[in-house]
Amino acid sequence: MMPEPRVPRVVVVTGTDTDVGKTVVTAAVVATARAAGLDVTAYKPTQTGVAPGEPGDMAEVERLTGVATVEGVRLRAPMAPRPAAALEGADLPTLADHVARVADLGVRHDLVVVEGAGGLLVELTDAGETLADLATALPDSGVVVVARSALGTLNHTMLTREALSHRGVRSLGIVIGAWPDDPDVIETTNRDYLAALPEGLLGAIPLGAPHHDASTFAAAAPGWLPGLAERLAQRLGTP
Ligand SMILES: Nc1ncnc2c1ncn2[C@@H]1O[C@H](COP(=O)(O)OP(=O)(O)O)[C@@H](O)[C@H]1O
Ligand SMILES: [Mg+2]
Repeated sequence: MMPEPRVPRVVVVTGTDTDVGKTVVTAAVVATARAAGLDVTAYKPTQTGVAPGEPGDMAEVERLTGVATVEGVRLRAPMAPRPAAALEGADLPTLADHVARVADLGVRHDLVVVEGAGGLLVELTDAGETLADLATALPDSGVVVVARSALGTLNHTMLTREALSHRGVRSLGIVIGAWPDDPDVIETTNRDYLAALPEGLLGAIPLGAPHHDASTFAAAAPGWLPGLAERLAQRLGTP
C-alpha cells in the first residue's frame, strides 16, 4: 500500500537504536518544515543523561534550527527513563500528560516533532507505555524511523517497522541518520533496500551535518529530506 502523502500534525521521531541520529533528524525535520513555511516546534518527552541546566537534545535542536523547543521530564542518569527515574525516586509523567502537552503545542504550532528516547519500545512512563503507545494516543501523528547506514541496519529497521505495523502506527518513512561521503557497497545496497519499502526513504543526513551552523543547516535540510520536503509542499498545496 502506498503511503498517504499528507504529513500529519505530529511527527514522532524514533530510531532503530540509541545514538542513531534522532536528535539531528529531529532538527532536520524542524528545519525542513520551517522552510516549507510551517510554524514548528519540537518536544522531548523524556530526556535522560543530563543534569539540570545542562544542554539536552532539545538544546541541540535549538542550536541547529533556531526554533524554540520544549522538554517534558529530565533525569540525570544516562539510561532508559524508567530505571533513571527509579534511581532518583522520581515519578515519570503519564502518557496522558505527554498527550496533553503535545496537544497544547499543536494548538499553537502547525507541526510538533516529538523525539523519543532510545528506540521504539523503550518505556517512557511508570505504567510501561512506550513511544509507540504515545504515537497511538496522539491523533494525526506518524512515525519517522532513523536508521544507521551500516551492516545490521536492515534487521533493526525491519524489527522497528514490524513493531509499528503490529500496533497500527503509521510509518512516514525512514531516514538514514549519518550518510558517508563515500559509502561502501553494503551501505548503498542498504539504502536501496530501504528506499524500496512501501513507506520508503525520506532522505539521509550527510555525515558531519551537526557541525554546521544554524543557517547552513537550515538551508541544507530540505535537500537532505526530499521525501519529506515534497510531501510538505503537497500539504501546503492542499486547501
Ligand atoms: N549526520 C551526522 N554526522 C555526524 N555526526 C552525527 C550525525 N548524526 C548524528 N551524529 C552524532 O552522533 C551522535 C548521536 O546523534 P544523535 O542525533 O544525538 O542520536 P540520538 O538522538 O539517536 O541518540 C551525536 O554526537 C551526533 O552529533
Ligand atoms: Mg537524541
